[in-house]
Formats: sequence, structure tokens, C-alpha cells
Amino acid sequence: MSFIRTEDRDGVRVITLDNPPVNSLSFALSGELVPIVEAADKDESVKAVVFIGANGIFSAGADVNDFSTEPTPETRTIRDVIAAVERSNKIFVAAIQKNALGGGLELSLACDYRVATADTKVGLPEIKLGLLPGAGGTQRLPRLIGAQDALDMMLKGKNMKAADAKAKGILDEVVESPDALLDAALKLALRQAQGDTQKAQGDTQKAQGDTGSGKRRISKRKVELGKGITAQAAPFIVSQAHKMVPAEDAGGLAAHKLIDAVEAAFELPFEFGIAREARLFEELARSAPSFALRHVFFAERELAKIPSFEKLRMTDTPEIKKAGVIGAGTMGTGIAITFAQAGIPVHVIDSNADAVEKARQTVFGMFMYQVQKGRMTQEEAWKLGQSIQFTDDYNELADADVVIEAVFESMDVKKQVFAKLDGIVKPDGILASNTSTLDIDEMASVTKRADKFVGLHFFVPANIMPLLEIVRGKETSPQTLAIAFKLGKALRKTAVLSTNAFGFIGNRMVFDYAKAAGALAEEGISPMRIDGVAKKFGFPMGPFAMGDLSGIDVAWHIAKARPDVAKGRTDVIDRLVEMKRLGQKTMAGYFTYDKSVGKGREPIADPEIEALFAEEAKKHGIAPREVSDEEILQRLVFALINRGAYLLEEGVALRPGDIDIVYIFGYGFPPHHGGPMWYADEVGVKHVYDKVVEFGWEPAPLLKAIAEKNGTFAALKQGELVNA
Ligand code: 3HC
Repeated sequence: MSFIRTEDRDGVRVITLDNPPVNSLSFALSGELVPIVEAADKDESVKAVVFIGANGIFSAGADVNDFSTEPTPETRTIRDVIAAVERSNKIFVAAIQKNALGGGLELSLACDYRVATADTKVGLPEIKLGLLPGAGGTQRLPRLIGAQDALDMMLKGKNMKAADAKAKGILDEVVESPDALLDAALKLALRQAQGDTQKAQGDTQKAQGDTGSGKRRISKRKVELGKGITAQAAPFIVSQAHKMVPAEDAGGLAAHKLIDAVEAAFELPFEFGIAREARLFEELARSAPSFALRHVFFAERELAKIPSFEKLRMTDTPEIKKAGVIGAGTMGTGIAITFAQAGIPVHVIDSNADAVEKARQTVFGMFMYQVQKGRMTQEEAWKLGQSIQFTDDYNELADADVVIEAVFESMDVKKQVFAKLDGIVKPDGILASNTSTLDIDEMASVTKRADKFVGLHFFVPANIMPLLEIVRGKETSPQTLAIAFKLGKALRKTAVLSTNAFGFIGNRMVFDYAKAAGALAEEGISPMRIDGVAKKFGFPMGPFAMGDLSGIDVAWHIAKARPDVAKGRTDVIDRLVEMKRLGQKTMAGYFTYDKSVGKGREPIADPEIEALFAEEAKKHGIAPREVSDEEILQRLVFALINRGAYLLEEGVALRPGDIDIVYIFGYGFPPHHGGPMWYADEVGVKHVYDKVVEFGWEPAPLLKAIAEKNGTFAALKQGELVNA
């Protein structure tokens, strides 16, 4: 199979990268490309070379799959392609459309010039995969835009729009349309090649045009630090950068190595810097955090692939042009903002004037904040605000494509809402519930469109949290699911499919996690210490702070509704509710809160609560004991893994990776540990199983089965889950 096409135009060799869908620069592509670059260099009829991408994109960089394969002596990588470009005496121009990311941008940085379409985004996102730019990026970018800006761009891994990239000097020219791209690149190449030839003939006259003259290898430049920064500041920049990123064992391994590579750009000649970068890259490619982050990358892209459907064809589904939300509470308002930000007009239905007033203020405050931060203009904010209409008239939803209910968590109330909506919303409109625990099928049963009924479980605050659980009812049609996934994408959410089971994926797991935390506190460990262990592992907050944030009353309602789920818990939650300690909102829950400490969000240990746990423990005959930090962590995380295994077996979650994504995007599981199921593989499923048994929990049969085979969750194939 061929990944490259070449064509000569007016003496310019056009090399087209064609490796669908994103022209990743795989080992195979590189192997084909190296001799093509070398041949162009040797060919006297070739005045210059233009790289361009097929498939509407320049390149998404190296093929991430390749990092897990062992290279042979014959293997050629993007580094070899870049080295061939660097060796050549010809002028190289990168013609960039849509994306030049990672190795894609690095290839273009090895060229003399870069032209891009206006919709292009460039970036070095390797850090998100636990890597560093390993094809010259850490050496060339600081030489091009200054070390400080380069570090900022690489450490954040954020993409940059074409206009900004031109202002920074990464791009030389920006053209409006893709149709104009190749022409612009050819003209630039010829113009510069002409200048080059003249120089070669001893003519010192400057090349025509305003983009510089002839060859411009970035490698020949000195590293700039940044505007107004003297060379003596280099060690300071490096040490500051090390201080700004997380510790190596807390998700910062790649960041520190990246800074080391940039330091090499200051200290070493270019060729040595490149060699240092390559060594650091290889170390990272074999590191556990990078394996975990690569797993997250692919797991995210698998979410919408639903094996039981032939094809979940999102492209064939209708657009969502108008939405409705029932309920102007915190959740409803957050969902409405999410729609507005995605450019979908939304009507919010609520008859409570106070709630509506509060919601209006939230919407206004939210968009004003964006204006203050410079993320949008007043006019754009006003427009977005206008796309959210508040009303108490359900008839406004007659032509809505989707309506999401976000009212009080009561089956009766929700059924009334859906019965009413069913009579008003057009027959092909989707009805969705944002419930976090109630039965979707029971709600659907009051409508005549159970096939168009789905759960859309957003997380608070809905306009910020990236996760969306899509809940499939018994009769939800594939078409409805396809629309739901497409909507999730439009709303820029990471959507995961769950079946209709209590708590779906995330909340079902968090109940066990909270239960494990409560049991530890009953054994005499302070909530502050337990939370500390969770935070050290990488969670943004511990289980008790999380309980306070979501509300003790919420946990209490769930415990009352599902005593089977709450089984094994003491009455601490009842006592907290009696004491009106409902969490952050009442400035007291498991912890106390004080407006003057961390804006009222910083947990403060409360001896009264430790005494309360001790009292309840005594009542239930639980003796205090010494527990190590290691055991605390195991009991918290292994509780998640065990429940995750049940959910896989019951078919609630499709794949281990789906569970990992739910836990990373919805509950802050540290991505560099890959999610709970990936972490189980990392520490060994057999070890997890042995501990689950030792803790006296009921192990999931699937956990046991994998442990007995000394297997991994990653190795599970879809069909093997059944009867495991
Ligand atoms: N390697 C392998 N596969 C890749 C890939 C890559 N770099 N980038 C994308 N893909 C695959 C996806 O897995 C997906 O495959 P699937 O259809 O089988 O699920 C397909 O391409 C399409 O990807 P998306 O679903 O993400 O498509 P979008 O249009 O939403 O996004 C994109 C396109 C913006 C290019 C996005 O895919 C992306 O951000 N890709 C990763 C970019 C990246 O991290 N590059 C750095 C790679 S590491 C590197 O270059 C090292 C170097 O320094 C040596």
C-alpha cells in the first residue's frame, strides 16, 4: 500500500501525504517517504519541494499505535524523514490544511516555509499522551518563537489557530480557502528557489517577496528566550518551568522531561539537542503514564462504536436545530448554557418566577465572565444570552428536536412532565431525562415514543463538566442513540453509553467508593487523612470533600431509595442530615467551611465528625485499627474496580475503556493512571482480586475469572464478557 503521491509542477515536486483518515506519519509512511525526499534532493530538475496532505488535513503527527511496537533496524520514523529534509539543499515548503499536530508540525518546522489555510490549527499535543515532541519540536520551536512561548505551548499541549500562529512566526502565510493552498505554496517555493539559485550563483541580491530569502533552516538559528529576556535568564526560565508543573510521580513525568529537552536546546549544539530529545522521548514512550494516556486517547475514540449495531451512523442523523430544557434549576441552567455555546437555541420551561430570575442571572454572569476573560465580545455574549429563552409555556417546544427534562428527582414528577411533553413535542422529537438514578424505561412508558426516549445524564456544572452518560432504555432505537451521540459531539461532551441500571456507570461506582471511605473513617481514620491519600494519588479532591460538594442530602435520598445499595453503611449520613450538615452548601458536612478560607470551598477538619464516626462504629461493634496509606488507597480504588467488573459483566458498560473514561472525565480519576480498569491491569488484576477477598467484599465473578487466568481487562474481547 502506498501512502505517498508525487507530482512535478513547474519544477516543484509536490509530495502528498495520504494515510487516511488523518495522514498519521506511521513507520510505514516514513519508510516510503525517506527515499522520496532523498530522490527529490538529488534530482536536478527539482527546484523545490512542497509537502501537502490528502484527506483534507496536513497531518495529525506520528501514528500513536507505533509507540507500542518495537522498531527493527529497518524501521524508518518521522525523525528519519526530517533528517533527510534537513540534509537537503532544496527549498521545502509545508502546505498545511486543517491540522499540523505533533510530528506533523515538526515536519513542517523542518521545512523552510509554512503556508496554511485560515481554518488550520497547529500544535504539539504530545504531553497529553505522556510524551514530548520527539521529532525536533523541542529544539526547533524555541529557536523559532522563543523558549518561553515554546515551553508554554508544549507544556499545555494546546492547539493554536492559524492567525495566532502567523503572528507568532510559526506560519509564514495564511490563505483563506483550501483551493488556494497549493498555488500559494508553489508560488512561495518558486519565489524562494529563485532567490536561492541567484545566491548560489554568487548573486547577493535579496529574493523577491516579503517572506525572506531562500533557505531558512530553523536549526541554524540561536535559541531566543523571549521578548526582552537576556540569555542569562535561561537557567531561571528552566527552574521556574520545573516548579510550575506537577511532580514526576503526580502526572508530571513528561513535563519535566520536556523541560529537560528544552534546556538541552539552550546548552547544546542543535544535533546534540536532537539526540537528547530522542533519548528522552524513548524513555517516555516506555513509561507507564504514557501507556495509560495512550489508552485514554484510543478509549475516547472508541466510545461511539457500538458493537451490537451494524453501524451507528451519526452522519445520517438529522441535525438538532432547536432544544428544550424542563426546569431552570442549577442543572437545567447549565444544560441550557451548554446548548447556547454550541449554537443551538434553547427554550427553558419553568413556572417558578424566582427560579427563572436566578437562572437568568446565572446565564448573564456566565457570559459576562467570558467577556471579562476576553473569550468573547459583548455582542457575542448578548447573542448567546438571547439564544436561551425562558418561558412557562410548554407549547414553545412543539417543534423542538430534543427536550431534556431536568426537574426534581421524583419519578411521579418526571412522569407528569413526559406525559405532557409527549402530547406537545413533534412526533420525531427526542425526549430525554437527565435523571442520575431513576428508571428510564418507567419514564418512557408514559409516552408513545419509547424508541425516541433516552437518558442524557450531565454532570454538575453541566456547562463545564465534559462527561455525558447516554442511557439506553429497553426500547431506545439505534437512530435515537446515534442522534444522542451526535448531540454529545455538538455540545463538546465526551459521551459514554450506559444501559438503564441504577446509578448508570459513574454513580453506581461512586456509591461503593463512598462506602469504602465511610468504612475507613469508622475504623478511626480521619476523613482528612483519607482525602489526603486520594489526592496524593491524583484525584482533585477526596471522597469526603466530594460528598460535601454533591450534598449529604443527595446521598441520604439515594440510601433511602436503595437500601440494597447502601447496605453495610452505618447511620452517619442520617446523623449528618439530622444535624443539617448537608455539605458545602450549609458550610458544614463531613468538614466545615469558612468563607475566609479558600472562598468557603476549602475543607476544614472537624473533630466533631471524627467523634461521630467513632460513636457509630462503637454502636456497630467496629473496632478502631491502624491502617496504612497503601491500604486506604487500595480500599478506595479497588472498590471502584470491583464494581466496574460487575458493570461490565452485567453489560451496563460496554468496555473497560468506557468505564475509565467515565471515571476520568466525570470524577477526576488521574488520567496518567488510565482510569480504574486500566489501573487494575497496571497493579495486576490477581492482586486486586486477592485484596478484595481480604477486605471481605463480594468479588465480581468477572474479576475472579480474569484473576484466575492471570489476565487483564485490556485483553477482554467483547464476547468474552458474557458468562465470564
Ligand atoms: N495516530 C494514530 N491514530 C490517530 C492519530 C494519531 N496521531 N490521530 C487520530 N487518529 C485516529 C483516531 O484514533 C481515529 O481513529 P478511528 O476512526 O479508528 O477511531 C481517527 O484517526 C479520527 O480521529 P478523531 O476521531 O480524533 O477525529 P477528529 O476529526 O475528531 O480529530 C484530530 C482529528 C484533531 C487530528 C485528532 O484525532 C487528534 O487530536 N489526534 C491526535 C493528535 C496528536 O496527539 N498528535 C501527536 C501524536 S504523537 C507525535 O506526533 C510524536 C512525535 O512528536 C514524534
